[in-house]
Amino acid sequence: MDRVQNDRLLRALRHEPVDATPIWIMRQAGRYLPEYRAVRAKAGDFLTLMRTPELAAEVTVQPLRRFDLDAAIIFSDILTIPDALGLGLHFVEGEGPRFHTPLRTPADIDNLPKIDVNGQLGYVADALRQTRQALAGSVPLIGFAGSPWTLATYMVEGGGSKEFRHIKGLLYSDPAALHRLLDLLARAVSDYLLMQIEAGAQALMIFDTWGGTLTPSAYQAFSLAYMSRIVETLNHHKPEVPVTLFTKNGGQWLEQIAASGCQGVGLDWTVELADARQRIGNRVALQGNMDPGVLFGSPQQVVAEATRLVKAFGPHNGHIFNLGHGINQHVDPANVALLVDTVHKQSQLLKKTWKKD
Ligand code: CP3
Repeated sequence: MDRVQNDRLLRALRHEPVDATPIWIMRQAGRYLPEYRAVRAKAGDFLTLMRTPELAAEVTVQPLRRFDLDAAIIFSDILTIPDALGLGLHFVEGEGPRFHTPLRTPADIDNLPKIDVNGQLGYVADALRQTRQALAGSVPLIGFAGSPWTLATYMVEGGGSKEFRHIKGLLYSDPAALHRLLDLLARAVSDYLLMQIEAGAQALMIFDTWGGTLTPSAYQAFSLAYMSRIVETLNHHKPEVPVTLFTKNGGQWLEQIAASGCQGVGLDWTVELADARQRIGNRVALQGNMDPGVLFGSPQQVVAEATRLVKAFGPHNGHIFNLGHGINQHVDPANVALLVDTVHKQSQLLKKTWKKD
């Protein structure tokens, strides 16, 4: 594996000591940055930006020019796979993603075309390669995908949802058809993440945004089982590349998630970081978990909450600081700079004072 100058993230994922806690931010390239809005305006729209490797690489590195972040995450979207499956991805301004042809019947599922990840999603590999060049070994580059359950939710609902009427309807009327869809998606996501590793991704993350809408047994059967299969495939082919699983609202299932074979577990802000460390911190690295809403607050509160979380985890190995979900477009970038510096300073201080004891 290629070396990086700042390897805090990779060390934390391996449970090795670090001089300061690494931090990156979910959705760190995005609309809260004026330089992102400028490139997006030049591209015309989000999908064109995402599909143009040169521009995607540019916005990926933008937050690293401004903030002392410890990782880059490739600028793309989890919905690239449903898009490649021909569902007609588009974005309705102010409403988020939509599909022209959602999957509404078992026949829709069985008629999905075969996906050629390398051919159809080659633009993501190109963006990764160009980003690695631009980063020039400064920090590691994270690749990502959506979980099969979360992708299926968008594909069956036809977009975002509050009630999950169609996907739950399918789960509780034709679970076998849903399993066929999840199986297809698990294979596509595995191929996709392996392609991303080949193109330069040095760590991976799987976003399970909607796993927390399930009952405990349904979560196990319809979400975690498929993420575990992907982790198994990746560990088999590329054991040196760490994988982090993030189930939003998955706090009650941390032990099961950690048992998947993943190297990192992402936490939203509804779990207490110290409790999570007690529960699974000896087995996996933990990523999280500041409430993204803190960044709407005063600079004093940003400092106070970041410091509280650094202390809650303590001077142990295996913490990657992040938000509990993506950063909001209305956040003031000044609060992000303050957050990043506070995490580094406070964690350095904590490690120093701890060594003296
Ligand atoms: O973290 C990063 O900086 C990498 C980029 C990234 C994006 N989407 C860019 C993006 C990542 C990791 C994602 C993941 C993603 N996309 C998830 C999982 C994480 C989560 O938020 O739960 C989901 C559910 C999606 C689907 C998606 N894409 C939605 C719901 C939206 C609309 C959100 C909004 O704020 O309008 C998108 C579009 C999107 N993806 C934007 C960005 C920066 C906004 C694009 C824009 O309008 O410029």
